[in-house]
Amino acid sequence: MKKTVAIAGATGAVGQQMLECLKERNMDVDVKLLASARSKGKVIDGYVVEELTPESFQGVDYVLGACENDVTKMWMPWAMEAGCVVVDNSSAYRLDDNVPLVVPEINADDIAKNNGIIANPNCSTIIALVACDALKKEFGIRRMVVTTMQAVSGAGVKGIADLENQIKDENAPKTAFPYQIAYNLIPQIGDFDELGISKEEWKMQNEGRKIWHDDDLLVNCTCVRVPVLRSHSESILLECDKEVDVEKAKDVLSNALGVQLKDDPQNKVYPMPLDTTNQDDVFVGRIRKDLTDPTGKTLSLFCCGDQIRKGAATNAVQILEKLLAQTEQ
Ligand SMILES: NC(=O)c1ccc[n+]([C@@H]2O[C@H](COP(=O)([O-])OP(=O)(O)OC[C@H]3O[C@@H](n4cnc5c(N)ncnc54)[C@H](OP(=O)(O)O)[C@@H]3O)[C@@H](O)[C@H]2O)c1
Repeated sequence: MKKTVAIAGATGAVGQQMLECLKERNMDVDVKLLASARSKGKVIDGYVVEELTPESFQGVDYVLGACENDVTKMWMPWAMEAGCVVVDNSSAYRLDDNVPLVVPEINADDIAKNNGIIANPNCSTIIALVACDALKKEFGIRRMVVTTMQAVSGAGVKGIADLENQIKDENAPKTAFPYQIAYNLIPQIGDFDELGISKEEWKMQNEGRKIWHDDDLLVNCTCVRVPVLRSHSESILLECDKEVDVEKAKDVLSNALGVQLKDDPQNKVYPMPLDTTNQDDVFVGRIRKDLTDPTGKTLSLFCCGDQIRKGAATNAVQILEKLLAQTEQ
């Protein structure tokens, strides 16, 4: 029998992309779109958006969650009560021991350990780990130093509107960010703790440890919002267990799942956010040895990925595909 998939937060940046992904991948499921009362009756691709209420999940098999944490925590008990399996994009349950945190290219086996909720990792974490997973297998990774350059759409539809409006009028209202983002950079994503580290910056280490099953992983991360509409970029330095070899690194990356190697700097070939926009693969390039490390164990790279697709919607839909395949076995 056809399964029913509800998208909770269907009118948002991630929710709309989830619907696109279901269509693109020709998934044979019935779809239900849910959002706040504000969106009730809105039509997206022929589907009428319903208001999310405690009754919304009756008859639903799977939920793709695309709401902020507080809203997710409100509806999650309703979905559990109705017996749905949820793939959630918020950070509300990511570090819960009972909830697998999954990037299918890396730890798809963890999906089987779910108790009704599977979490999608943070978008920058997904992009960095997809870019570095093959290198971790080859050289071992002890420490990562990462600077993220995060697109405005990472803050949802409000972030996109802020950049578009401020480009037309620098005095346009700031709804998603504390400062003007047009023609600017903002080195803050999320609140800072007493150590001066933001919530977003902690995610790469905390979530990276869980996905890679490596409690010793160390990550120093600086997150920066940039005036790019879509696709996050990341400059990454990897301190490895073994001496690194650039040609070997390129070789393993050229065979890595979900990765496209874009590394020919002499010919101006390197990853750029406009090129990964609307792509599911993460582009990796600018691969070079860190010459300031005399042990030769440090590698630098640059990567880009569409954070609404691979960093959110595509990753969730890939997990859903695995869940559906399990029920068919
Ligand atoms: N944007 C990204 O690149 C990205 C990447 C990875 C993860 N995420 C995470 O994914 C989630 C969604 O992000 P987004 O960027 O898509 O946000 P968004 O564009 O702001 O969309 C939020 C969605 O939540 C819905 N919503 C708000 N209040 C609601 C309520 N009371 N009941 C039901 N639905 C409600 C909104 O519906 P209305 O339109 O009716 O208000 C909208 O559909 C967040 O947890 C975010 O951290 C985002």
